[in-house]
Amino acid sequence: MKKIVFATNNTHKLREARALLGRQFEIVSLEELGFEGDIPETGTTLAENASQKAHFIYDRYGVDCFADDTGLEVDALGGAPGVYSARYAGEKATYDENVTKLLGELEGKQERSARFKTVVSLLLNSEEHLFEGMVEGQILPRRTGSDGFGYDPVFQPVGYQETFAQMNSELKNSISHRGMAMRKLVAFLKER
Ligand code: IMP
Repeated sequence: MKKIVFATNNTHKLREARALLGRQFEIVSLEELGFEGDIPETGTTLAENASQKAHFIYDRYGVDCFADDTGLEVDALGGAPGVYSARYAGEKATYDENVTKLLGELEGKQERSARFKTVVSLLLNSEEHLFEGMVEGQILPRRTGSDGFGYDPVFQPVGYQETFAQMNSELKNSISHRGMAMRKLVAFLKER
């Protein structure tokens, strides 16, 4: 089975990727690759960050790899937190602190539409390919559900009565931003 490195330290993302790609590819984690530490993320767009993360690993190990960057865009907040979703409540903010800040900013607001966007950067034989995914939804006034991570407990995708944190991973993957980008990645790799 062809091996490919997923340049992430996020175990939730790794699990999602293995569920999506695991039949066709062996997804190698950074730990398995022997890399410890954080990958810099200093871009101002999702594409820049995804590309930066993939190049960081490719430059050091010379292996085919991919990385993703995801942001939550909230219309009532002018698209924030967007590319800064991980650091919304501060540099080392926890998921919970970020959600609390988001709920505070939206308190009393009726307009709660939002979307997750993901960009995946794949470096294959040193060539870069980008894949995008998106899911529309709304931010609920309070947390519901305990699965998933990040903003999942307050994000309800259009067409569903549950948040991402109430869904099993198969359902979330089948409609999520990252699922969509990853399926494009798989389709591309299969053609190769
Ligand atoms: P990252 O920079 O791609 O790791 O993502 C930025 C932030 O977006 C993360 O810290 C999470 O809070 C959030 N995030 C990314 N993917 C998801 C998801 O699938 N569900 C909920 N939140 C997510």
